[in-house]
Parts: sequence; structure tokens; C-alpha cells
Amino acid sequence: MNITDDRFSASGELIAMSGGEGGARYACVTCHGARGEGNGFDAPRLAGLPAGYLQKQMEDYAVGLRAHEVMRDAARFLDSHERVRVANFYASLPPQAFPFETQPATEEAIAAATPALYASACEQCHGVEGVGSVNGPPLNAQPAFYLTQQLQDWQVSKRRNDGNHVMLKVAQQLKPDEVRQLSLYLARVSVAHPLAQIP
Ligand code: HEC
Ligand code: HEC
Repeated sequence: MNITDDRFSASGELIAMSGGEGGARYACVTCHGARGEGNGFDAPRLAGLPAGYLQKQMEDYAVGLRAHEVMRDAARFLDSHERVRVANFYASLPPQAFPFETQPATEEAIAAATPALYASACEQCHGVEGVGSVNGPPLNAQPAFYLTQQLQDWQVSKRRNDGNHVMLKVAQQLKPDEVRQLSLYLARVSVAHPLAQIP
């Protein structure tokens, strides 16, 4: 692509507002929030996630390695340049979570053992308290429902976009209770956590 092409093509922000070729039905802000904070339920926060991770997800949805009807279509209406631009746009936003008070199911006590399970099974890739690392995306302050959904999708290979099936193997070790507890635990970690600022 040359500079002239770029001047006439939609910016990442415009795609987020308009949905690109697909039109308003695929406007990212409808489900992922005006500031990329997600909807606190099934649509994750995108604000502040690594650009490379976001762009890879768009490619994976488009080809079905990650199966989801709406996201498949949202991704397919964008060309590869647009996927890069919208990924860069969301990566550049300050990490922003759906307001904590409305995260679901927090009344359920989180088992005392959960942080220890996280530290032994997940932290090496997803970082201290889920802030992310070069080996895995941030998980902190994602909706509990969303996190549970992803782990269950891996257990049945509905999501199979992880290199070397690393998440398939991890997910299949987890009992249903552990999936729920880990999801509740991670949903409660604030994006304002000091470690969240480390790139
Ligand atoms: C109608 C609602 C809706 C619209 C519109 C929508 N999304 Fe999504 N998005 C979702 C849902 C629901 C998920 C979770 C799907 C799953 O479980 O895999 C998701 C997941 C994602 C993910 C995966 C994030 C992660 O942490 O792995 C990315 C990236 C994403 N969407 C980007 C976009 C972009 C960019 C647009 C606009 C072009 C968009 N979405 C439009 C509902 C929507
Ligand atoms: C060896 C590294 C590794 C370990 C250990 C690991 N993960 Fe992951 N995880 C990844 C990678 C890599 C991805 C991104 C895969 C992709 O490209 O979609 C991921 C993605 C995820 C996602 C999806 C995030 C999103 O935004 O959609 C969840 C949820 C998750 N992991 C939970 C866990 C939990 C819970 C544990 C511990 C029980 C764990 N992971 C252990 C590497 C790991």
C-alpha cells in the first residue's frame, strides 16, 4: 500500500465507529463499547490489548479457526489492511474495563485457592494477575462470562487458534469449578493494576 491509498482508506477509528464495508451492524463500538471497554458479558474489552494479538484474532475469526458467527462476518467485511488498522486503533486506547460494579456473579465467593492455581498454571504466560506477557494476552478485567466461554470453547475445540494447542491442553486440565473460579478471579483484577502499564 502506498501513502495515497492510505489517505483515502478508513482509519482504524472510523472502522470502529462504522463497521467498514459491512455497515452499522458490524460497528465495533456497538458491542465493544465507545472506549473499547467491552460489554461486561460476552464481548471482551479490546482497549489496550496488544495490536498483534487483536489482528491475529480478526484473521482467525475470518477463516473459522475461532468460530463465532458475528465476529466471522465483522472480520470478513474488512480487508487485511483494515484489520491491521482497527487492531492498532484498539491497542492504542488506554486499557479500559467495563465498570466493575456491573461485572456479573461477584457475589459468589472466590475460592481462596484460586490465586495459587492461577500462579502455577497460567502466570508464566499471562503474567502476574493476568496483565499479559509476550507469551499470552492480558486476561485481567475481562468479563467472567467471556473468559469462561473461551475456556469452554477450547475444551471442545470450538476455539482452536492457539499455536501447539497450548490453551487446549491447559483448558482440558481444568475442572468446571476451576474454570468458573479463575474467570471470576481474573474479571476482578483492575486494569489500573500498576503492572498493567508494563508493555
Ligand atoms: C454484535 C456484536 C459485535 C460487533 C458488532 C463486533 N464484535 Fe467483536 N466480539 C463480539 C463478541 C461476542 C466477541 C467474543 C466472541 C468469542 O467468544 O469468540 C467478540 C470478540 C472480538 C475479538 C477477540 C478479542 C479477544 O480478547 O480475543 C476481537 C479482536 C474483536 N471482537 C474485534 C472486533 C472489531 C474490530 C469489530 C468491528 C469491526 C467487532 N469486534 C465488532 C461481539 C461483537
Ligand atoms: C504456555 C502458555 C500459556 C499458559 C500456561 C496459559 N495460556 Fe492462556 N493463552 C495463551 C496464548 C498464546 C493465548 C492466545 C491464543 C490466541 O492466539 O488466540 C491464550 C489465550 C487465553 C485466553 C483467551 C483470551 C482472550 O482475550 O480471548 C484465556 C481466557 C486464557 N488463555 C486463559 C488461561 C488460563 C485460565 C490459564 C491457566 C489455567 C492459561 N490461559 C494458561 C498461552 C497460555
